[in-house]
Amino acid sequence: MGESRNMAEENNNKQAAAPKQAAAGKPKPPAKVKPVPAVKPGVPAKAKPVPAAAGPAKKGVYKPAEVRAEANPFKDSKTSGFSSWLQERFHVLNPVIDYLRKKEVPRHRLSFWYYFGGLTLFFFIVQIITGLLLLLYYKPTEAEAFARFVYIQTEVPFGWLIRQVHAWSANLMVLMAFIHMFSTFFMKAYRKPRELMWVSGFILLVLTLGFGFTGYLLPWNELAFFATQIGTEVPKVAPGGEFIVKLLRGGDEVTGETLTRMFAMHVVLLPGLVMLVLSAHLMLMQVLGASSPIGYKEAGLIKGYEKFFPNFLAKDGIGWMIGFALLIYLAVMFPWEIGVKADPLAAAPDGIKPEWYFWAQFQLLKDLKFEGGELLAIIIFTVGAIVWILVPFMDKQASREERSPLFTIFGLVVLALMLIGTFRVYLEYGW
Ligand code: HEM
Repeated sequence: MGESRNMAEENNNKQAAAPKQAAAGKPKPPAKVKPVPAVKPGVPAKAKPVPAAAGPAKKGVYKPAEVRAEANPFKDSKTSGFSSWLQERFHVLNPVIDYLRKKEVPRHRLSFWYYFGGLTLFFFIVQIITGLLLLLYYKPTEAEAFARFVYIQTEVPFGWLIRQVHAWSANLMVLMAFIHMFSTFFMKAYRKPRELMWVSGFILLVLTLGFGFTGYLLPWNELAFFATQIGTEVPKVAPGGEFIVKLLRGGDEVTGETLTRMFAMHVVLLPGLVMLVLSAHLMLMQVLGASSPIGYKEAGLIKGYEKFFPNFLAKDGIGWMIGFALLIYLAVMFPWEIGVKADPLAAAPDGIKPEWYFWAQFQLLKDLKFEGGELLAIIIFTVGAIVWILVPFMDKQASREERSPLFTIFGLVVLALMLIGTFRVYLEYGW
């Protein structure tokens, strides 16, 4: 690295000397060009545009500069190392790299909870890789989807493993996102200036649940078919809901059209949106740094700081390895069933329920089985989501670095309601 830095420096010095060399040769430089000062390693010399010499510019009349910044300030450079080659091209990133090198993370007894964001990210990366592999064999049509799943499970070498890892990693990603959300909530990590981390995080959670919902139908089996029928029916009672149902289903009923739409959302729309929002989430994390719980600094509970690169990242890596081991164990020991092919003309079998992460909402819909109950449930979900996303802006005490027990109680109530709803579905239907 040291050598490459010198190399870059040498190149720049050469480049700084370029006008002098040119002066010795035939083509003379323009008389008014100032000598280019020595520059930082890898940073191109700035040739300041020199204003036109002929008299003061008239007001409102554009006078072009006589000398412009060099179009290719590195034309005389002879890079001999990959690192200096990169330096020349990406020198604008130097301050960013310096900043990240210096970045530190506080150490305290709740530091453990900071691994869950990274774990969510890890399972998302697993989803992208295994999803791409599944795409090589999957076909999103009513006639072929189920048969393709059977083929992947039974014929494709290691296809069973890829499919099981994809299915388990989806569940673990949702679980990690929930743990991450509630841990950041109870640590009040959403408080000023991290409000947008919370908002972008919540959007990520909704998109993650969208992945689960759209992916569920892709094997085109009986359970998924009827669960999707129930799930896509929900918006119907809301104003404008008929339109949403048609948009999701591609018609009035769940058909092959629905499969095509779910597939498009699952492999194009949602990954694109997640990439976009995730970039913002992670960039904010780098810019704002990790928070520490309220009052920890004042109470001397911060046990010091450690470098993000490489210390914290290495620990994150250990978390990822544990996550990977758990993932492989679950995929091998507890494979997901393929079930039987969906038959749209058959009656819905008993015990149709959505994936576990929708159980709380499912239970609420079941509890409100009276005239107008479904609409009430939709209002509760919508208002609840809006209040939840606005928490950082409402919790003024936390923004002033004061404890906010009311919000802690609110979070505990939300968590308890979700767990109770989920557990009740488990008691009634089993796993
Ligand atoms: C796809 C889903 C998500 C990914 C991949 C993700 C990733 C991350 C990562 C890597 C961090 C830094 C390490 C950490 O604090 O754990 C982080 C921080 C954070 N995330 Fe997320 N996140 C996701 C969803 C969420 C959700 C659902 C919320 C809340 C609604 C959220 C809110 C936050 C907040 C407030 C922080 C700052 C923590 C602090 O500075 O103390 N994130 N996220």
